[in-house]
Amino acid sequence: MELLQIGYQVIVVDNFSNSKPEALKRIKIITDKALIFHQVDICDRLALQAVFDQYDIDAVVHLAGLKAVGESCQLPLKYYQNNVAGTLVLAEVMNEAEVSKIVFSSSATVYGDPHKVPITEEFPLSATNPYGRSKLMIEDMIRDWVAANATAKGNNKIKAVLLRYFNPIGAHDSGLIGEYPNDIPNNLLPYVAQVAAGRLETLSVFGDDYSTPDGTGVRDYIHVVDLAKGHVNALQALDGTLFEQQPCRIYNLGTGRGYSVLEIVNLFAQVSNRKIPYRVVSRRSGDIAECYADPSLAAAELGWRAEKTLTDMLTDTWRWQSNNPDGYL
Ligand code: UFG
Repeated sequence: MELLQIGYQVIVVDNFSNSKPEALKRIKIITDKALIFHQVDICDRLALQAVFDQYDIDAVVHLAGLKAVGESCQLPLKYYQNNVAGTLVLAEVMNEAEVSKIVFSSSATVYGDPHKVPITEEFPLSATNPYGRSKLMIEDMIRDWVAANATAKGNNKIKAVLLRYFNPIGAHDSGLIGEYPNDIPNNLLPYVAQVAAGRLETLSVFGDDYSTPDGTGVRDYIHVVDLAKGHVNALQALDGTLFEQQPCRIYNLGTGRGYSVLEIVNLFAQVSNRKIPYRVVSRRSGDIAECYADPSLAAAELGWRAEKTLTDMLTDTWRWQSNNPDGYL
């Protein structure tokens, strides 16, 4: 949507595994701009090739990933197939079509259990579950792909941006576009929103004995629209001189500020004017105490900074939830 609004021509490729066609209609309503859409699975090489053959594509924003940590432990091969093998197919199809620019949606999960906060891009990388490992593998694959083409000319020289998202939340402020998980939500925000709406009874707070100010987990929540704008800046930077010197660059996309689970619950109760019953249960396996970004590299090199406040994020989440209690029906 951010790209359409500033005049880009956008081709969306999605298999609707965790999204709905209605979302695309609503993008048209908000932007009053047309986008091109193809229902294609990223692993379907022939269908993907057909899309690349049909248009003169300048750059790819690669967001096609499965993202549920718990599911990835139960179905690891599904994650390696979709995330890793899917990216491999995409890279090969891009090579054939001589499309050389990619922005990849990575995650702060690649920092594993960070030894301190805030987290800079230089921190050591590790993964604690198949989802995280799939992101790390893709980062490595893209780094190798770029390195192998570093001396190539023109469109054979691959340029890549790896964007490490912290915790994306919120919704478009129109209340028309937002997140509607297929099943019971795993992530804090959709869960809290559904408790506030009365669809779920009680929030389980996973541990209050962490070494954080109130004992609950601290995360760097970032508004999805700020995140989307980070991609626009990344795409624009790919054409600049920075990428001539170092053609694969990595940026944290976060606000630089952490909030605890209880801070989220209390502020959400306030903006929604609803009660959010919760009980503290034991820690969720694999969770870390604290995670927030040092986003200064993205500010310096991409000219990007998160602008929306936590109140904006929660207000927009609540508007989306209350206007669309059943999602995109
Ligand atoms: N939490 C609860 N109760 C819930 C859900 C979450 O207390 O029902 C807590 C968690 O323990 C954590 C915080 O809320 O302290 C945030 O949890 P989320 O599940 O919303 O997010 P995570 O930080 O665990 O994970 C997110 C993404 C991952 C990504 C990771 C990397 O979901 O995909 O950030 O930073 F890998």
